[in-house]
Amino acid sequence: MKINRFTSAFCLMAVFFVSLSSAQDYAAVSANLALTPPMGWNSWNKFGCNVSEDMIKGMADAMVKSGMKDAGYIYINIDDCWQVSRDANANIVADPQRFPHGMKAVGDYIHSLGLKFGVYSDAGSKTCAGRPGGLGHEYQDAVQYAAWGVDYLKYDWCNTSTQDARASYANIRAALDASGRPIVLSICEWGTAKPWLWGKEVGGNLWRSTGDIQDRWGEQKKWPDGTCCSNGVLAIIDQEAPLYSYAGPGHWNDPDMLEVGNGGMTDTEYRSHFSLWAILAAPLIAGNDLRDMRPEIHDILTNKEVIAVDQDPLGRQGLRVAKDGDLEVWAKQLKDGSRAVVLLNRSGSEQEITANWQDLGYPSSLNASVRDLWQHRDLGKVSAKFSARVPSHGVVMATVKP
Ligand code: GLA
Repeated sequence: MKINRFTSAFCLMAVFFVSLSSAQDYAAVSANLALTPPMGWNSWNKFGCNVSEDMIKGMADAMVKSGMKDAGYIYINIDDCWQVSRDANANIVADPQRFPHGMKAVGDYIHSLGLKFGVYSDAGSKTCAGRPGGLGHEYQDAVQYAAWGVDYLKYDWCNTSTQDARASYANIRAALDASGRPIVLSICEWGTAKPWLWGKEVGGNLWRSTGDIQDRWGEQKKWPDGTCCSNGVLAIIDQEAPLYSYAGPGHWNDPDMLEVGNGGMTDTEYRSHFSLWAILAAPLIAGNDLRDMRPEIHDILTNKEVIAVDQDPLGRQGLRVAKDGDLEVWAKQLKDGSRAVVLLNRSGSEQEITANWQDLGYPSSLNASVRDLWQHRDLGKVSAKFSARVPSHGVVMATVKP
């Protein structure tokens, strides 16, 4: 009798330790995801709820054909509105009209092109577009996503009532890890509960730091009904600027998806938007129609020298190192010891902007090579500083290499 009790207690302990260590293994796998900021495409900014199997497959094809895949974009992410209900067993059901072959077929197609597959859900009872959310179904949904081959989950924060953000995101991370499939977790909580303070600890790979981006250049303003707030590119970078110390390999601040190519800004402004996202080590998730891009938009999204700044393996988020009214200098330390620099002109007319070596953390005496990343041109070796004329709402982006 004694031996039996001992044996069963021993067995229980063994089961406990085995399951604990396998849970830790999965968690270790997910902690190694997104060691550089994720790059891909998402349906929301251009298509909203108008998602379908045909459109998503077309976008995956275009990702490859356009050279975006070669430039590093890998995720094809379906945002809100792919889901319509739960079945009798509470399994999440994809819209049968829009996804007639089901979600696994979509994932298989995306994977067949060497790309990765992302979906969207919400920590609350309903998504922001009113579709069924994940609350109370986290483990069941994670198993389903894993069976579909999902590689990336964006998890939103609508209809969460009194839920605790940190606990809710820890819960979905644990569910994803328990599914046995490494899945990037994109926390979409808009910065309300300061996810930069806890996102890494709960296993988030990126976290939105602001409300939704709008396809416009300007600063933050109230919506026409007086509620807060519409965020243009400048509004977002101003909110993102103080958060630089929270970003690093595997865990990134997310200033929201790109609007490059969606028509609300000039090409100069889109070049600035893209350069600033790169200096911020932001996820580069394109949000335009990849099947139909003007060459100028294609050249922005596939500028490999700018992308290399974003993807630098040191994983530092850049910061604003100098500001004189509307003229700013942003700098990001790179792994080889050089600096990427953005000279940003927020004003309404062309201006000269200067980056001083001391603001970059270099002695003035240093002789450093400057390369323009939009003109793809070496500008020679200089000491103390470099200056450039910068168009209104434009940038000059360069590397400064000792
Ligand atoms: C929220 C998110 C957006 C998008 C929509 C979908 O607003 O912040 O990025 O996912 O929901 O409804």
